[in-house]
Amino acid sequence: MDRLRIKGGRPLKGEILISGSKNASLPLMVAALLSDRKLTLHNVPRLADIDTMIQLLEQHGVEVTAGPGENGHARGTTLTLHAPKIVSTTAPYDIVRKMRASVLVLGPLLAREREARVSLPGGCAIGSRPVDLHIAGLKALGAEIDIDGGYLVARAPKGLRGARFTFPKVSVGATENMMMAAALAKGTTVLDNAAREPEITDLAECLVAMGVPVRGIGTETLTIDGVTSLQEASHRVISDRIETGTYAMAVAMTAGDVELVGGRLDLIEAAVQTLRDAGVTLSKTDRGFRVHRTNGALRGVDVMTEPYPGFPTDLQAQMMALMTRAEGASMITETVFESRFMHVPELARMGANVTIHHESALVRGVPTLRGAEVMATDLRASVSLVIAALAAEGESTINRLYHLDRGYERLEEKLAACGADIARIRR
Ligand code: EPZ
Repeated sequence: MDRLRIKGGRPLKGEILISGSKNASLPLMVAALLSDRKLTLHNVPRLADIDTMIQLLEQHGVEVTAGPGENGHARGTTLTLHAPKIVSTTAPYDIVRKMRASVLVLGPLLAREREARVSLPGGCAIGSRPVDLHIAGLKALGAEIDIDGGYLVARAPKGLRGARFTFPKVSVGATENMMMAAALAKGTTVLDNAAREPEITDLAECLVAMGVPVRGIGTETLTIDGVTSLQEASHRVISDRIETGTYAMAVAMTAGDVELVGGRLDLIEAAVQTLRDAGVTLSKTDRGFRVHRTNGALRGVDVMTEPYPGFPTDLQAQMMALMTRAEGASMITETVFESRFMHVPELARMGANVTIHHESALVRGVPTLRGAEVMATDLRASVSLVIAALAAEGESTINRLYHLDRGYERLEEKLAACGADIARIRR
């Protein structure tokens, strides 16, 4: 298994190109299941999770071709997805267990084929992550759903019917599943308390390009008029706001100065405010924005994760890594997932001072971190250890690199180009 070796202490300087969003790309790819016409997606990042999604969609009958990217550029990938016929309505355990986003095929398959069998994803390192909201929503559209042999078995013999559904809790995945199911349901669907993440807006805009009327885009009430057929469409994936925030925090951690090309401040406003409060400078440029911290120490700030537009849970671990070196204390409260503090014991191995009280972590800044051998159990926890290692004295080794490969395109290349002493050790 590959590992990452980092020698800390070098400020990051230069520019980093932000990739297309992983969490926008996955549902956008699934949307191809709705249509017998081609869907072309530009700016899809090249990541392990994207490959897993291709594998899943291909076994459902989607023909996927990958081009080199926009304007013949090697960065980013253009994917063309075409599902003239669905050949299987089963999403098998072997693929779903690798990537929870696989559950997004449930709504589209049910809407198009009137049946779907999707493996239950099981537990995961950041919490139990049930799928009850996906089930309740699809039932409201007329689906019958049972659990049999570890699979969700869904049927809608007469097709799905539009309905009004209020999410009892905000869920990104359940909102996406419902939007896609509603696209082919008979009549109008109104989704209240829908998630408003930029990835939801991106999916809504792609559905509109495919010929589905969606109103209320960007608000907590989405209205979707079901259609009987869709049109050929192409769509450019938004830039990855979590990758953007991650690199902004890495630059702040090393007291560096980097332009994040393609990064959008407007997609991470809560994190931008938090970073400014902590003493980091972020300023818009023609190509994205510049982040720098050249003078003064970091200040401890409190953070609470919330659904968009609040502070994203997917940046919580990285923010905690940053706060380990701040002056004063920082209270970090996780309200989205129940056990997303797996990075805490690993940060402690590097000398961080963090105490957990239920859903909050109290971080007391320390003057120095020391390099260590660490490992993490999920994507964002892993990258928080990279951030800590970039500022730690001496050498760190990060194990279980496959987590990082799921969500960060060419991470070591991007950091090395800004002066980090970082190398992948293959074995
Ligand atoms: C998406 O996961 C993202 N994944 C996650 O990013 C992200 O952390 C999360 O949204 C929150 O922003 C993708 O987009 C592929 P949710 P999702 O449904 O859709 C509970 C990363 O690191 N819930 O919004 O699975 C759930 O347990 C990943 O890139 C139910 O109770 O998240 C959680 O506490 C990790 N029942 C909360 O809602 C349900 O049926 C929010 O989850 C569904 C969710």
